[in-house]
Amino acid sequence: MRPGHPETLLPGSVAFLCLLLLLPGAAEKDGGETCWDRARDPTVKKVGDALKEQMKAVAALCQKYWTYFSCQLWPQACGKEKKTALASLDWTLPLWGQKYLDILSTWYCSVKECCGRDDCRITNNITGLETDLSIRLHGQHLAQEVILKSVRGFLSAPQPEKPLVLSFHGWTGTGKNFVTRILADHLYRGGLESECVQVFISTLHFPHLRYVDTYREKLMRQVRDTVKNCGQALFVFDEAEKLPPSLLETLKPLLKQHDTIGDMDYQRAIFLFLSNLGGNTINEVVLNWFKAGWPREEIAMEDLEPHLKAEMLNSMDSNFGHSQLAKENLIDFFVPFLPLEYHHIRLCARDAFLGQDLEYTEETLDKVANMMVYVPKDEKLFSAQGCKSIAQRINLFLP
Ligand SMILES: *[C@@H]1O[C@H](CO)[C@@H](O)[C@H](O)[C@H]1NC(C)=O
Repeated sequence: MRPGHPETLLPGSVAFLCLLLLLPGAAEKDGGETCWDRARDPTVKKVGDALKEQMKAVAALCQKYWTYFSCQLWPQACGKEKKTALASLDWTLPLWGQKYLDILSTWYCSVKECCGRDDCRITNNITGLETDLSIRLHGQHLAQEVILKSVRGFLSAPQPEKPLVLSFHGWTGTGKNFVTRILADHLYRGGLESECVQVFISTLHFPHLRYVDTYREKLMRQVRDTVKNCGQALFVFDEAEKLPPSLLETLKPLLKQHDTIGDMDYQRAIFLFLSNLGGNTINEVVLNWFKAGWPREEIAMEDLEPHLKAEMLNSMDSNFGHSQLAKENLIDFFVPFLPLEYHHIRLCARDAFLGQDLEYTEETLDKVANMMVYVPKDEKLFSAQGCKSIAQRINLFLP
């Protein structure tokens, strides 16, 4: 932490502020007589009691802020019960205490760069999302448009009827994970690391079918706890085609249109399913498009979505876990990721050089792009690995 950075001042300022707020109560001792108790006049006493309540409330809040900061600064000393206490941060203070609460909040928020009572963990930077999707994502005009529109629409709805469910389809290296990171970065402070974001990778988190009951319990608990802590939560299921079907069964009720489940409200959550399912179909459509001599950018959703949907519906193989979602119309948008061509690979290579502040020449970009394998055998149009591991490959061309 840089010296002079506001956060280094936190513990001191909080303590000071809380002390100021608590001064009247400071004389209070456990079970002892306070200045408020000494008031004989019943009306004075009544006011005094009310004041005491307010102060208690503010004191409790100070305690919570203090715990929050100490947890930030000394995570090792921050017990589990402290974290749970924080999760139940209670904003319903009586009016009088509210004023002090506002002072505290304003100050707290000026430090944390958030505004008013908004959740500091959520940034929802749609402008940033739009910029990044158009500048850093290559060759995906459809994904760019569908994702921006659907996310923007969802976030601006005052009361969404159901969670937003997007299904990303395409070959490896076409940008599904990349877009997921861009989304997380612009919607949440801390991006994928945010406590509002949960990523599940089928082969990593749910590798053995025989433990599926354990996985299910754990998954449900995690989803519920995350939404409880953070209404606009993001859940990412990578390798969704390998999701055990029974896990999906448990998720289904959450994805449907409903009011509340139990005391929980999932309507503000976002679910992303990433899979290579439909990748071949997408590639076929794009290949035929090329053969017809039409420009790639003119491929429209109508040209792909029906094919994708059909493939999902027709895959009777129950291992294609999330095809079940398509059958029940739980997916709001199918997002096709098109196969990448030579010139896209060059752009990825350029970004990789720029990202590491390295010099490059047009010739180097060609060399990197030429390292990739292109398919199909005859046309050699699409990079079989997309832009995957380009960042590692550029190391071979460093001076
Ligand atoms: C949104 O993102 C853009 C690009 O990353 C950034 O320049 C801008 O400051 C962000 N806006 C806010 C309000 O954070």
